[in-house]
Amino acid sequence: MKGVILAGGKGTRLGRHTLVTNKHLVAVGKYPMIEYPLATLRRMGVNDITVVTGAEHAGAIVNYLIHAHPGVDFTFKVQKEAGGIAQALALVENVAKGDCIAVILGDNVFDADFSGDVKDFKDGALLFVKEVLDAQRFGVAEVQGSRIVSIEEKPKMPKSNLAVTGLYVFDSSVFDKIKTLKPSARGEFEITDVNNLYIKDGNASYRVVRGFWSDAGTHQSRNHAEKFVEESGYDPLQF
Ligand code: DAU
Repeated sequence: MKGVILAGGKGTRLGRHTLVTNKHLVAVGKYPMIEYPLATLRRMGVNDITVVTGAEHAGAIVNYLIHAHPGVDFTFKVQKEAGGIAQALALVENVAKGDCIAVILGDNVFDADFSGDVKDFKDGALLFVKEVLDAQRFGVAEVQGSRIVSIEEKPKMPKSNLAVTGLYVFDSSVFDKIKTLKPSARGEFEITDVNNLYIKDGNASYRVVRGFWSDAGTHQSRNHAEKFVEESGYDPLQF
């Protein structure tokens, strides 16, 4: 299985922090944000990792990762515009070469070990959900027992409190699915639309995330993630 960290986009919700650097290099506790998704992939045993970054400050991300992690086999791709998570993922098709991929958003902080969840993965999509208090901020899953029925992106009236986190495992059909997408009302190629295609095919399953999860893409959520790492002592370098 190959790994993908999606670290494109503009990061405008972190305000002035992203004027001179990439959002994913902003600190969460002692480390740049990108250390957290990287640790999550490496705990899963994934070491062949493609990082998709935006054109602005791309050099900073490349420099940081190759110096901080000389033992990891990184490939870098540049997303020229912030056209959505699915658009960023499409850039990885040639690198994935038909393998399954574990995809993580560059602003997602988890502390769990998902290696057991992904070890028997062969096809379809495996999604990871977590109960939250502010479901309107996320993709929200409607589930019936062990089945995931639908996902709505940032609904005003969420059908559940189960957020779809930014960790996804996909088979290689993901790239053909992305090619069929149209931009959403906010002008982005949405990962939620990709996930709904898997659901429509009856080919999506889910797990509930054990342990901590937060994004760190807003001041409030970054503070929340930081508080967690400081209080728990979780260290992404000790993955
Ligand atoms: O954190 C989980 C949520 O992430 C999911 O519940 C949502 O379904 C999903 O759409 C996403 O929502 P956000 O509004 O938080 O996504 P955001 O635009 O903040 O992007 C999150 C990361 O994805 C960002 O840190 C880098 C990557 N990204 C995003 C965009 C828009 C890219 O690589 N390229 C992009 O064009």
